[in-house]
Amino acid sequence: MKLLFLGDLVGRTGRTAVIDQLPAIVEMQQLDFVVVNGENSASGFGITEAILQDVLDAGADVVTTGNHVWDQRDTLVYIERQDRLLRPLNYPVGTPGRGAHLYTARNGAQVMVANVMGRVYMDAMDDPFARIERVVDDCPLGQVADAIIIDMHAEATSEKQAMGHFLDGRVSLVVGTHTHVPTADHQILPGGTAYMSDAGMCGDYDSVLGMEKDEPVNRFQRKIPGNRFTPASGEATISGVAVETDDRTGLALRVAPVRIGGRLEPVLPFFWQS
Ligand SMILES: [Fe+2]
Ligand SMILES: [Fe+2]
Repeated sequence: MKLLFLGDLVGRTGRTAVIDQLPAIVEMQQLDFVVVNGENSASGFGITEAILQDVLDAGADVVTTGNHVWDQRDTLVYIERQDRLLRPLNYPVGTPGRGAHLYTARNGAQVMVANVMGRVYMDAMDDPFARIERVVDDCPLGQVADAIIIDMHAEATSEKQAMGHFLDGRVSLVVGTHTHVPTADHQILPGGTAYMSDAGMCGDYDSVLGMEKDEPVNRFQRKIPGNRFTPASGEATISGVAVETDDRTGLALRVAPVRIGGRLEPVLPFFWQS
């Protein structure tokens, strides 16, 4: 299968780039399944139901989130009827929505997606390792699921790498989100799981993490909050990772970063070069 994962959409420029370009990318590259992290798609903070629908209509199969999931208050309500929107799995028991689900891909394959949040320099959460293990054990790769994609939303690269090795051989892809900067460590781990510490954001890279740079620079200098953070509005780079999996085992055969448009040097994965 051909899988594509895109990192956090930031603001109007990030979501517009993906909504406008994803249909052609899915079509031209014959992608089987697409996951997009949408936690910053509504003015940088959370996701509205209308934006969720636009991203799904553009070709995303699942939208994951992270610590910003509840920034738009309505999400607490509409997430119950939107099973293609995931919030981190390791929120306390009783939190609205779901953190993992099994989906049917365009080619009929069964794909499990889980969203989990780290605990280093993040809010106190349930143990992400214990919670993800239960979900993966219930849905074994190559038996119940044809592919398994894990969005590890975390600050610390050490915690993301640990999650990659913890799940190595049991899932197709462990990819980090949240830090908004793509890392250069994409690889297939020894057990066959594709891994990348951070997918990067889909947003304007002439910014601080997708936000207009003046206010973040001001806050680092003066330690006095001034204006609000607002998303930068220059042309976005679409950033993420592409994985080709073995149809029999669900493990990764190839992994490559994806960066399209905007300020970052373009990087196109193997199946972009046909
Ligand atoms: Fe984010
Ligand atoms: Fe985040």
